[in-house]
Amino acid sequence: MDIAIFQFILLLLYFVFLHYVSGQGDTMTTTQFIKHGDTIVSSRGTFELGFFSRGETSTNHYVGIWYKKTSATTPVWVANRLAPITNKYGVLKVFQPGLIVLVDDTNAIVWSTNSSKSVQNPVAQLLDTGNFVVRDANDPNPENFLWQSFDYPSDTLLEGMKLGTDLVTGLERYLTSWRSSDDPAPGDYTYHCDPAGYPQNLMRKRGNVTFRAGPWNGIRWSGAPNLVNNSIISFGVVINSREIYYKYEMVNKSVISTFVLEPYGKAMRIIWIGKARGWVNYHSAAVDDCDTYKLCGAYGTCNILSDPFCQCLDKFEPKHPDDWERSDWSSGCVRKIPLNCTGDGFIKYSGVKLPDTRNSWFNETMTLHECRVVCLRNCSCTAYTNLDIRNGGSGCLIWIDELIDIRQLSQSGQDIYIRMSASEIGSAGSTRKITVILAIALPLLVALILLALGLGLILCKRKRRENPVLTTTGILGGHSNKNDNSNQIHQENFELPLFDLLTLTNATNNFSLANKIGEGGFGQVYKGVLEGGQEVAVKRLSETSEQGLHEFKNEVKCIAKLQHRNLVKLLGCCIQGEEKMLVYEYLPNKSLELYIFDEERRALLDWPKRFNIINGIARGLMYLHQDSRLRIIHRDLKASNVLLDIEMNPKISDFGMARSFRGDETGANTRRVVGTYGYMSPEYAVEGIFSVKSDVFSFGVLVLEIVSGKKNRRFVHPDHHLNLLGHAWMLHNEERMLELVDPYLVDSYYISEVLRSVHVGLLCVQQNPEDRPNMSTVIMMLSNEGILPLPKHPGFFTERKVKDIDQFSWSTQTPSSINEITITQLNAR
Ligand SMILES: *[C@@H]1O[C@H](CO)[C@@H](O)[C@H](O)[C@H]1NC(C)=O
Ligand SMILES: *[C@@H]1O[C@H](CO)[C@@H](O)[C@H](O)[C@H]1NC(C)=O
Ligand SMILES: *[C@@H]1O[C@H](CO)[C@@H](O)[C@H](O)[C@H]1NC(C)=O
Ligand SMILES: *[C@@H]1O[C@H](CO)[C@@H](O)[C@H](O)[C@H]1NC(C)=O
Ligand SMILES: *[C@@H]1O[C@H](CO)[C@@H](O)[C@H](O)[C@H]1NC(C)=O
Ligand SMILES: *[C@@H]1O[C@H](CO)[C@@H](O)[C@H](O)[C@H]1NC(C)=O
Ligand SMILES: *[C@@H]1O[C@H](CO)[C@@H](O)[C@H](O)[C@H]1NC(C)=O
Repeated sequence: MDIAIFQFILLLLYFVFLHYVSGQGDTMTTTQFIKHGDTIVSSRGTFELGFFSRGETSTNHYVGIWYKKTSATTPVWVANRLAPITNKYGVLKVFQPGLIVLVDDTNAIVWSTNSSKSVQNPVAQLLDTGNFVVRDANDPNPENFLWQSFDYPSDTLLEGMKLGTDLVTGLERYLTSWRSSDDPAPGDYTYHCDPAGYPQNLMRKRGNVTFRAGPWNGIRWSGAPNLVNNSIISFGVVINSREIYYKYEMVNKSVISTFVLEPYGKAMRIIWIGKARGWVNYHSAAVDDCDTYKLCGAYGTCNILSDPFCQCLDKFEPKHPDDWERSDWSSGCVRKIPLNCTGDGFIKYSGVKLPDTRNSWFNETMTLHECRVVCLRNCSCTAYTNLDIRNGGSGCLIWIDELIDIRQLSQSGQDIYIRMSASEIGSAGSTRKITVILAIALPLLVALILLALGLGLILCKRKRRENPVLTTTGILGGHSNKNDNSNQIHQENFELPLFDLLTLTNATNNFSLANKIGEGGFGQVYKGVLEGGQEVAVKRLSETSEQGLHEFKNEVKCIAKLQHRNLVKLLGCCIQGEEKMLVYEYLPNKSLELYIFDEERRALLDWPKRFNIINGIARGLMYLHQDSRLRIIHRDLKASNVLLDIEMNPKISDFGMARSFRGDETGANTRRVVGTYGYMSPEYAVEGIFSVKSDVFSFGVLVLEIVSGKKNRRFVHPDHHLNLLGHAWMLHNEERMLELVDPYLVDSYYISEVLRSVHVGLLCVQQNPEDRPNMSTVIMMLSNEGILPLPKHPGFFTERKVKDIDQFSWSTQTPSSINEITITQLNAR
């Protein structure tokens, strides 16, 4: 009872004080407080502070700051991140020695600021910068803060905030992501301006570095070519003996922009678009796979346009070639010729993002030449370069250890001089010596090579006869196993383990129906568990299939050579009597189709995941199309052929219909049209002509399906007979593209990325194959912010449904002049 009366009195008091605070000025004295529903607004009305809660059912309340324009839906700072108030009776007030405290209805302190100083007349004030400060009202200097929220950032870096370390007090200001979009408690990711060695911005996941912007080169971070001073925003880094920090300022003060670290670890600059009343992603810190920290290991370099991404730097070779071949690049590269401290020199590498500088040393006044001398003198110095690239370069930056996390940048990469053994550098003065040596050595060498070749041939022949092991040169033909009990034989050089039938029968419970997980081209797929506990997917080629052996060989040959993180891995195969089987890695999340078209599961794929899937498929496909030794056209790319691993990374599967070409042959005409309705390009479905551009068409369909959550095939709309492609094209022309987007994705942060994907999708499904971009262009279009060409009308954009008969119409001009063509006699699935 007493408590109830006390609360009533308290409530009365709230109303008495309401007028002092609510919606009024920007300061709060010791006699005032803020309760639920009240706000403080900064002097010029930019920011607002008050209580907010997240999630529809949550009873958790937090004190936060937000842009008044954007409302409380996106707080830029949160006070009690770890200590929510679970009812509406929280009160925020200023305490005598100079503290801000948040108390609950029992008057217990839930959250508090701290201060080493004690003052007579403390006031709390929300500045127009978004900084919430405590100062002494009697202090003539208004900048003398006892405490400020800018020292304790949440997940947002505001204009003027310092991201970095105060070397005098040891205070580090860094961003910490929310645990989830509804829970402001500190999550897994943090974003720092790391002071070790030469400062650079880093993202960490539970302490481990996951992304690095590269060192500051006077203009920008070495790894972020686009983030330079422009007409909207300017960037700067301050490095001196007292502090090290990064900050930005708005040049155009009417633009609202912040840098946020999202709960799932994406750091990005966002801009408020008043007209749309939403935030739009302006630039992401990490753009593509090559921004994954240390992807290629030491002395490896990542190039997003090459396949595989990772290459060793020139004069280096993989440390573990087997791992490297399997696309596991983490072990990195080593020098072909080791260093000999005294006689070393340097080789210049250009166009790179500079390696990790946490183990580096720098001097701002030295010249490049002095830098070289210092590096040469110290045997543990591995590389050097200019610190500042302005005015032709100045300063000195040297690396002490292995060079980690280098990538190739297509624009604005930097130079680095890497220490190299003298023999790698090849001195120009001794050409005569070399000629003499060559004159003697060359004939010897030729003889040796011939000998080696002969020996190799003999060995090779012998090996072939002895082992029933598949090689990519194809011994699949006649001879089957003489050696049935050897169920898993590992050999060097592209060879695949051979499983015996018994192993696979046991693993799949005698191919029981319960183990069946799918029906692919030319056969059924079963889940199996090998004796060691490894889970596998076994594709059993249907025995009746006439073309079976041919397709089987084809698939084995193709996949054995192809290793990419976005392709399903082939572990081995089995040929015994009539049985032919392929053993793949098992992917527990099954196929993309089960997610994007499913009412419930689609919610599991938010936009960042879907964008990652789109990019992954694009890279897998680019790898197939542009691999230097082999051109593969998939011919049956569709949602059910894209499998998802545990982290929802896409892996393209089912190469049963892939065709391989050698050299520059890019397309062919085929008698047997194979593929799936809804994904086939017109020239392929109608004329049987296929090329890499028919895969690009299928990819475009897939992108539109991923974005819309609707199937191209069987798409129905009350207003028209267009299929998904036609519908998207129509919406694009009417600038209503947002209507296409899966409602689950309408989170305004990503709208520009979503719309960009739809645009790229439309470019891929254009009627004329020549108009469609190739996959490397697609990848660039997806990751850049440049202007895209306008798409022309798509192929196959109308569809009429006649019960269960598949019938397509294909118009060459407009939907009104329909020229119907029916496709029959296909290998139905
Ligand atoms: C204030 O609190 C923060 C974290 O709660 C702590 O890191 C810091 O050392 C404290 N400062 C003082 C002056 O007590
Ligand atoms: C961090 O790295 C260590 C060593 O590489 C690894 O063992 C650990 O699992 C990583 N932690 C996370 C959260 O990834
Ligand atoms: C970018 O703008 C800031 C602030 O105006 C300025 O201090 C800095 O020198 C500029 N940087 C470059 C490279 O021009
Ligand atoms: C600042 O941005 C606003 C809104 O984008 C624009 O209208 C204005 O022209 C810009 N001002 C300058 C000086 O660039
Ligand atoms: C290293 O260089 C020195 C001086 O040029 C030479 O005497 C020595 O033999 C070299 N050592 C090796 C291992 O190459
Ligand atoms: C940088 O190099 C210059 C010239 O060699 C030297 O005078 C200066 O002391 C060095 N500074 C530091 C911080 O080492
Ligand atoms: C080389 O430089 C590193 C870093 O400055 C230093 O720790 C080491 O002592 C130096 N070694 C020699 C031989 O000068």
